[in-house]
Amino acid sequence: MFELHLSEFTREEFLRDYWQKKPVLIRQGFKNFVDPISADELAGLAMEAEVESRLVYKKDGQWQAQFGPFDGYDHLGEEDWSLVVQALDNWSEDAAKMIEPFRFIPHWRLDDLMTSFATKGGSVGPHIDKYDVFICQGSGTRRWRVGDSGDHQEFSAHEVLLHVKPFDAIIDAEVNAGDILYIPPGFPHEGVSLNTSMSFSVGFRTTSTVNLFSGLADHLIDNELGEELIEDPERKAVEHSGEINQDDYQLIKQQLTQLLDNDDVVKQFIGCYMAKAKHELDLMPADEPLTPADISEILTTNSLMRLGGLRAFYFNDTVEQGICYIDGNEYNFAANIAPAIKLLCDNVEVQPKQLTKWHKNEAFSQFICEQINAGYWYFAE
Ligand code: SIN
Ligand code: CO
Repeated sequence: MFELHLSEFTREEFLRDYWQKKPVLIRQGFKNFVDPISADELAGLAMEAEVESRLVYKKDGQWQAQFGPFDGYDHLGEEDWSLVVQALDNWSEDAAKMIEPFRFIPHWRLDDLMTSFATKGGSVGPHIDKYDVFICQGSGTRRWRVGDSGDHQEFSAHEVLLHVKPFDAIIDAEVNAGDILYIPPGFPHEGVSLNTSMSFSVGFRTTSTVNLFSGLADHLIDNELGEELIEDPERKAVEHSGEINQDDYQLIKQQLTQLLDNDDVVKQFIGCYMAKAKHELDLMPADEPLTPADISEILTTNSLMRLGGLRAFYFNDTVEQGICYIDGNEYNFAANIAPAIKLLCDNVEVQPKQLTKWHKNEAFSQFICEQINAGYWYFAE
């Protein structure tokens, strides 16, 4: 298990002083850090079609990027390239454990665990991200430069590489295994590998207003909601037929705000939207479907594990009414099992002793049986 040592500050002080405000290098945030996956295993994953990966390197002084799956790396030589793999948490149980120490930030804010392998001189170039990232250095050493936020000129160094013009550094450091560099959105940064190295980035991203509204529109269409029309039986004659007058503007705007004021609709949308997987899941349905009776038995001896990358959320009021959200869908259950459902949403691993009250509960074993047979949860060996 990875244990986070913020050393000079508490988690509360980190959130108060740095989160979304300024970058910070946390030396030895992970003590005795060992890569949870080897470079060879990572290279193998990037050969799989379901895994999102990319290679970044320079050829004749020009930045190049290629998307996986890859069938080999020999053509790249010994230096100046890096391989980036997204959503390692979906593919490696050991690597997914690196996210656990960051659970003091809620899971709905999480994007993924991104991994990068780089040879000496390898880099993805100077750039600005729109998300908060904890870049955890694994084996090897990288030099990281981070600039201040502000006006920075971005340009396309390649059709898929948005880079930033040279910037002055406010952090310029060599980082080694176990060091963690936190960078909020908007701060330019560049990491260059000084030897063969690995890094693991725990990223947190929010959704833009336009994407939220677009998601809301899809939700309304899929669920046949929001079909009300404006009703105006009290209408008075107008002088200027080309004008949308103040009263009518308010009437139309109210149509929008009424929907946004409907917490049943908005909560259902937010629950489903936030629970959508960010990257393809490696679903693991049991070979033979289990029955609720099998499940109640196994729950007494084996931990229940949530699939890497699976998103499962609840609202504290509606969970008590038997509602939660898993992998983009709303699920309903008997309200009396709400405490057990919260355990599943709050923890990646739930141990038998946490479920002693629940393993014989029919509604719970039925619920978890469906989840296990769908491949969303599984039993630890
Ligand atoms: C990298 O690890 O190479 C890139 C990570 C980042 O800049 O966000
Ligand atoms: Co970055």
